[in-house]
Amino acid sequence: MPRFSKAVSSLRSSEIRDLMTLASRPDIISFAGGMPGNDLFPVSEVEELFRNLDMRKKQAAFQYGPTHGLPSLLESLRGFLEKKGLPVHDNRLLVTTGSLQAISLLAKAFIDPGDPVIVENPCFIGALSSFKSHEADLRGIAVDSEGIAIDELSGEIRRTPHAKFLYITPYFHNPAGLLYSGERKESLVSALQGRDIPIIEDDAYGDLYFHPEDAGRLKPLKAINPEGIDICYTGSFSKILGPGLRLGWMLVPEEIYCKCELIKQSADACSPSYTQVLADEFIRSGLIYPYIEKVRQEYQTRANAMVAALKRSMPDYVRWNDPRGGFYLWLTLPEGTDSTEILKLAIEGGAVFVVGKTFDPAGRSNNTMRLSYCNNSPAEIEEGIPVIAEAVKMVCG
Ligand SMILES: Cc1ncc(COP(=O)(O)O)c(C=O)c1O
Repeated sequence: MPRFSKAVSSLRSSEIRDLMTLASRPDIISFAGGMPGNDLFPVSEVEELFRNLDMRKKQAAFQYGPTHGLPSLLESLRGFLEKKGLPVHDNRLLVTTGSLQAISLLAKAFIDPGDPVIVENPCFIGALSSFKSHEADLRGIAVDSEGIAIDELSGEIRRTPHAKFLYITPYFHNPAGLLYSGERKESLVSALQGRDIPIIEDDAYGDLYFHPEDAGRLKPLKAINPEGIDICYTGSFSKILGPGLRLGWMLVPEEIYCKCELIKQSADACSPSYTQVLADEFIRSGLIYPYIEKVRQEYQTRANAMVAALKRSMPDYVRWNDPRGGFYLWLTLPEGTDSTEILKLAIEGGAVFVVGKTFDPAGRSNNTMRLSYCNNSPAEIEEGIPVIAEAVKMVCG
């Protein structure tokens, strides 16, 4: 028997990962994965960019690079982030191997076994797994349509003044799909000011908004730069270029950057140079901006198709968010429903989604389900949603 460390012995394969295996069955319509549409990747544009590079740059793409990222990408990425109003000159930028690595490095930097960490409930499963692998004592705080519940958060902060950090995904939350309101962000800042609890602000989806009038709500807390709170801002190329690049970043205060860079040295020495060169060229050529605009429109079409299909086929007692961007619809069923029962029937009928308890830090609450519309055509959505609606009716009546 291998004698694993205490830290990893409680780790189990997550339902979402197991379902990915099912999702790859060709006869199943999958609303389970949070993957960008394969048909949307800018394959020929990126091929062309690489072909036109001089030999010196092509060779550098095959070489190791600095732990913190290739200088040219750091420069172009700073320009990209500065357009969002982010304080790129007063903070340090670290290129990471996906933004999940940024979250994991921060987890390693802050969490000792048993340390309290405050998260949203529901919460992105990748972050939950990372925090659990460091044996964090997770404190889940409910979210509503405006963001994290401030009363509950303030109560938790009073009970747990030494929480190591608060992790939030305010812009097109995974899985709840929600976009924080400006007011809720202000209340959040007031609740945390002077508390010595850093915020990890995960902005993996913020570029994928459907309504330009949401620009104010999309301004990162990091860009507002409130006094007295250390904000660790994380982002990713995964949803605006491709997750196969495995590139993300963190923009953090100097002291936190230094610690994370040291941890990254032993994690992977550096992120892939090859894809850093591609991402750098994608920004510098300016192609990134029309590309983001194109995928925004496509995801909006898919979201609209899913909302229309839900309206047509779901019983009235099922509630969901109205997606204003991102990849996800979050369905709430009557109290006491077990969405795993629905999932089993849906799989028999040929469609798959993710059950809500996957995203509950305590792994309990299961009268919810996540449907993603990012990787399906409207035709598939129209075919698959009635299958899930039938399963809901069979279980809930
Ligand atoms: C909220 C959120 N944060 C971070 C990530 C990690 O993305 P990546 O590691 O591909 O950058 C994801 C991926 O789905 C996500 O949904």
